[in-house]
Amino acid sequence: MHGTQKIGANGHLYIGGIDTSELAREFGTPLYVYDTALIKEKIKAFKDAFAKYRQINWQVAYASKAFSTLAMIQLVRDSGLSLDVVSGGELYTALKAGFPPEKIHFHGNNKSEDELSLALDVKIGAIIADNFNELDLLERMCARRKQKMAVLLRVTPGVEAHTHEFIMTGHDDSKFGFNLDNGMAEKAVNFALRAEHLELKGIHCHIGSQIFETEGFVQAIRTICRYADQWKNELGFQMGVLNVGGGFGIKYTENDHPLAVKQYIDQIVRTVEEECGNHALPVPEIWVEPGRSIVGEAGTTLYTIGSSKDIPGIRKYLAVDGGMADNIRPALYQAKYDAIVATRADEAADETVTISGKCCESGDILIKEASVPRTCENGDLLAVFCTGAYGYSMASHYNRLTLPAVVFVENGEASLVVRRETYADLIRLDLPLKTLSAHD
Ligand code: LLP
Repeated sequence: MHGTQKIGANGHLYIGGIDTSELAREFGTPLYVYDTALIKEKIKAFKDAFAKYRQINWQVAYASKAFSTLAMIQLVRDSGLSLDVVSGGELYTALKAGFPPEKIHFHGNNKSEDELSLALDVKIGAIIADNFNELDLLERMCARRKQKMAVLLRVTPGVEAHTHEFIMTGHDDSKFGFNLDNGMAEKAVNFALRAEHLELKGIHCHIGSQIFETEGFVQAIRTICRYADQWKNELGFQMGVLNVGGGFGIKYTENDHPLAVKQYIDQIVRTVEEECGNHALPVPEIWVEPGRSIVGEAGTTLYTIGSSKDIPGIRKYLAVDGGMADNIRPALYQAKYDAIVATRADEAADETVTISGKCCESGDILIKEASVPRTCENGDLLAVFCTGAYGYSMASHYNRLTLPAVVFVENGEASLVVRRETYADLIRLDLPLKTLSAHD
């Protein structure tokens, strides 16, 4: 159970003080339910973790790729965080949500001229430049517009971190960023320093996802500070900002043991201070970009259980009314989730079943081994936990399923923030077949 989740006297799962069966009745299923008190708590944890370092300037930018809708961005806006966007679409959503452009950072390994134009038009806070084409294009666009733009350079520090392990890859094979080891990053620093319309603010890296330790961040910071020292001496570069990206882990299942937000941040701040001390560099502003750790645990997907198939001696399948179209992560990454039968949350979960989705694909399995009460039947509600990050944002229309609704809950109140798609929505962009002129 996460955040405000509780089991009520009627044996139902409650989120934000509301019976999930009421939510399902009112908004239908599948339904993404967000516990906004928990989102706010996570945001506060990041802010508090930095606030105690009075000598440090910092920014926490929510990585909106994890979950971006108008209401979510407004919640982030009201919390005072900055925002990371990776496409014109995410930038547009942020602007429509009234997010202050100067607090938006724009990422991506292939930003188009149109996307950069929009960013320059509204004067966003910084562009995280990823490659030479982009630097060159951006400088030309800024020159044409007689405009300056702050940039950070994304580098690959040769560290890959996932969950418990981090590895120093030595060489980098990544589609993102400028490689440090082969001199690419140095060339980029040189270019950006000379470019008349680019203001080179600092360096960015992102070492991975769902990270449960701090060593990967430590190694990345050490490597970057070593290069920053070299570039200071050789090129006169000043690292005003060090952005160490996102990737802070969350607890999807009992087997996940992430650190507290403060443990990651303490280690990051300490390492930056220490390394800057070692190299006699001024301590830069520290930026982080959490996505999953802000919204992941706050999201729960409610499904209605439909058909079942019991294959004696093999397994029992319980099918739900969604699946890989609303949560691609199990199929794509073999991601593991926990679930509970929300309408029988007080009963012993004494049967192991496989939860399948309704898409025409054998791989559409949400949970390979889920424990549910034997009494569970067609019409019961299944709540899959921790679906707040990369669920809705990676949802598809596969099999022409309509996208579920999204509802925010807090203090006994529910507010619909994305309405459920209709069949008419599904075909709204389709055009009818034109009669082609016949050949002679
Ligand atoms: N900053 C940068 C530059 C990133 O590339 C990412 C994630 C983040 C921040 C946020 O990372 P987070 O704190 O959310 O881990 N679809 C995958 C995750 C892809 C992450 C891509 N970049 C998943 O569902 O696990």
